[in-house]
Amino acid sequence: MARILITSAIPYINGIKHLGNLVGSQLPADLFARFNRAMGHEVMFICATDEHGTPAELAAAKAGQPVAEYCAQMHQVQAEIARGFRLSFDHFGRSSSARNHRLTQAFAARLDQMGLIREVSESQVYSIDDGRFLPDRYIEGTCPNCGFTSARGDQCDNCTKQLDPTDLIDPRSTISGSTNLEVRETKHLYLMQRTLRGKLEAWIDSKKDWPILTTSIAKKWLNDGDGLQDRGITRDLHWGIPVQKGDAPWPGMEGKVFYVWFDAPIEYIAATAEWADANGLPDAAWQRWWRTDMGASDVSYYQFMGKDNVPFHTLSFPATILGSGEPWKLVDYLKSFNYLNYDGGQFSTSRGRGVFMDQALSILPSDYWRWWLLSHAPESSDAEFTWENFQASVNKDLADVLGNLVSRVTKFAKAKFGDQIPAGGDFGPQEAAVIADLGARVAEYTALMAGMEVRKAAAELRAIWVLGNEYLQGAAPWTVVKTDPERAQAMIRLGLNLIRVYAVLSAPFIPDAAQSMMTAMGTDDWTWPADMSAALRALPAGHDFAVPENLFRKITDEERAEWQQKFAGVRT
Ligand code: 2FM
Ligand code: ZN
Repeated sequence: MARILITSAIPYINGIKHLGNLVGSQLPADLFARFNRAMGHEVMFICATDEHGTPAELAAAKAGQPVAEYCAQMHQVQAEIARGFRLSFDHFGRSSSARNHRLTQAFAARLDQMGLIREVSESQVYSIDDGRFLPDRYIEGTCPNCGFTSARGDQCDNCTKQLDPTDLIDPRSTISGSTNLEVRETKHLYLMQRTLRGKLEAWIDSKKDWPILTTSIAKKWLNDGDGLQDRGITRDLHWGIPVQKGDAPWPGMEGKVFYVWFDAPIEYIAATAEWADANGLPDAAWQRWWRTDMGASDVSYYQFMGKDNVPFHTLSFPATILGSGEPWKLVDYLKSFNYLNYDGGQFSTSRGRGVFMDQALSILPSDYWRWWLLSHAPESSDAEFTWENFQASVNKDLADVLGNLVSRVTKFAKAKFGDQIPAGGDFGPQEAAVIADLGARVAEYTALMAGMEVRKAAAELRAIWVLGNEYLQGAAPWTVVKTDPERAQAMIRLGLNLIRVYAVLSAPFIPDAAQSMMTAMGTDDWTWPADMSAALRALPAGHDFAVPENLFRKITDEERAEWQQKFAGVRT
């Protein structure tokens, strides 16, 4: 039994995530967690909400709530939706937790002690009416290069020129529109990542098995321009983790907080500590996942995230870990994803374009979405959600192939042979052939799942469902029963056993349907079918089964058209 630590990138607290966010991190991480549990491994699957930063503050202000209250409420909302999608986190933490405050402050103190923190004095735009320093992207004005009047402080969207806020003509705050701005001196802490460049490069080079998407992004940041830059890890904000040296004040840093991207990945560790706290366990219980001096050297650690998060996880967070010189666990495998687009354009949170997680669950159960999203995961390139494709996948794969097999076999069995698995006949050459084919495909499926080849694994699972259908089509117990009922009974005995096998194999993708299949087969035996011959004899003659409710319904053309229309517009 191996020990598998899995973290999904932690979603920002402001607002509900869309399906593109879901398929890029939480959902494939859940697939992998469920698979590894099914293989009998010890799994720790961690996620959390990412609660600090300016967007959270602004969203709270817009909602007319104190930011702490807003975050607490939105955390509950996100947790509820995660349950709706059956995301099987061992803990869903909060980056604003006391655990993360303490751990983040301790990391900063340690990095300082290692000589890796320097103070930098810089001038920044302060909005007198807003009573705050403005991050670059919250300042707009006229571009000195092209005259575009809505250029941002970091870049002009019209001519793409990189800008400094002080370059803008007639700058204004996008928060309040105020032009009452001034440039003020402020001091910040910088993590000296350049000093760690050699260590980081050696570490990345040692990861021979990482996906190209992951290493190419890491290398680009390591080598582009002047190479890796030192990074500001503090901000002039009210909401965040106060800058302290551990428990002690940090002279000159009063009133400042750590940068959200400094504390967010530390929350992976802190959330595991929150898990221990929530379960009344001692520190050793979470440390054995994270401290190599406390047992974590035999842990395999996997991270899941969208490609935009890769630099932070291949460079910034490892710089924190390596720089500390302490025995913390580093990631072993980083699985990254491209983007999912929506119906001819992009998903957009700001414009409310696409399907958001709560809306998805309001129209169909989570399995429908899980199946489409995972079987179309944007692995080797960006992918696109279209309603036509969604309808076709659900209706074919789920309703016609899997759902139909389950309903046909159980209904026929009950009608002809009653409520127990029939005893007649023996398995013959047809059964031997399908057992061999299934065995080979399941071995391939298992390898793909272990390798996090999400799309290929989905295709293999679909092929496994198809094999069962082809067997039944060819064997045709509904015809054979008329001339050789014993033979038909043997076929149906295999068919009913196959439903249990399908429940086990399908559970990581479609856990609810899998549970219905398992319940209908009157058992709770989730043993992975490594030996297909044994697996298809697991439920003996005389064992009770039931006909389950229809597993999947089809999506009609009318529904498809209605939803397409409904989700094209702006979310209110
Ligand atoms: O991109 C995002 O949604 C970020 N909130 C991800 C943070 S992952 C990590 F560092 F914790
Ligand atoms: Zn411009």
